[in-house]
Amino acid sequence: MDKSKRAAVLAGNWKMNKTPEEAKEILNGLLPALKGADCTVVVCVPYTDLGVAVELCRGSNIHVGAQNVHFKESGAYTGEISPLMLVEAGVEYVIIGHSERRQYFGETDETVNLRAKAALEHGLKPIICVGELLEERENGTTEQVVTRQVKAALADFTAEDMANTIIAYEPVWAIGTGKTATSEQAGEVCGLIRRTVAGLFDAKVADALTIQYGGSMNPKNCDELLAQPDVDGGLIGGAALKVDDFTALVNSASK
Ligand code: PGA
Repeated sequence: MDKSKRAAVLAGNWKMNKTPEEAKEILNGLLPALKGADCTVVVCVPYTDLGVAVELCRGSNIHVGAQNVHFKESGAYTGEISPLMLVEAGVEYVIIGHSERRQYFGETDETVNLRAKAALEHGLKPIICVGELLEERENGTTEQVVTRQVKAALADFTAEDMANTIIAYEPVWAIGTGKTATSEQAGEVCGLIRRTVAGLFDAKVADALTIQYGGSMNPKNCDELLAQPDVDGGLIGGAALKVDDFTALVNSASK
């Protein structure tokens, strides 16, 4: 499929940054700046900012996402947030399996799959993150690792589930480090992800899937990365916290 027929999605991952008051400030800057955006824009904010974000973005072209979701609807899971809670809060997207969750909070391929399925069952759109560690890139196992993560994350998915799913390729060594994958490296692994999805489903499902690149994407390197035929958008950390930078990235993805 021609890339221009796929949805370009630019999502900000605010991580554990910004209080509700600070969130208001950023969003009040983004709302007028992004009015003419010709791509889907999502801001994935901390749980405590969801209320203000949904309120401020209502009726605009900015969609609100969370950064994780539990797979049960309720129960004795201290510290977790359920899909029902996110839906009622007005959230549309949710990041799942970010490498920081895998690295610091015991997230596994299996829990990524459970969370993603629960999100879809409740009408939330998962942004599923995959990506290799530096040592895996260096010892030549990138392909193996990413293929395993994609297959595990998508276990028991239907083609309809895939229509509401985004996959973000985020090489762990490029996250927050200022080291970006070259556009060739990003394009290569995003292509691998699309081929893996084609193998699991079919070419039609794979062609329609939005695949993002994430990892130190910024206004300087975004054009080249987003020009790759299999890169359909970005998952942006640091640069998503700066109105001017995020606006530049959205403009680049809108081209
Ligand atoms: P970064 O983060 O843009 O700051 O590297 C990306 C991410 O972790 O999603």
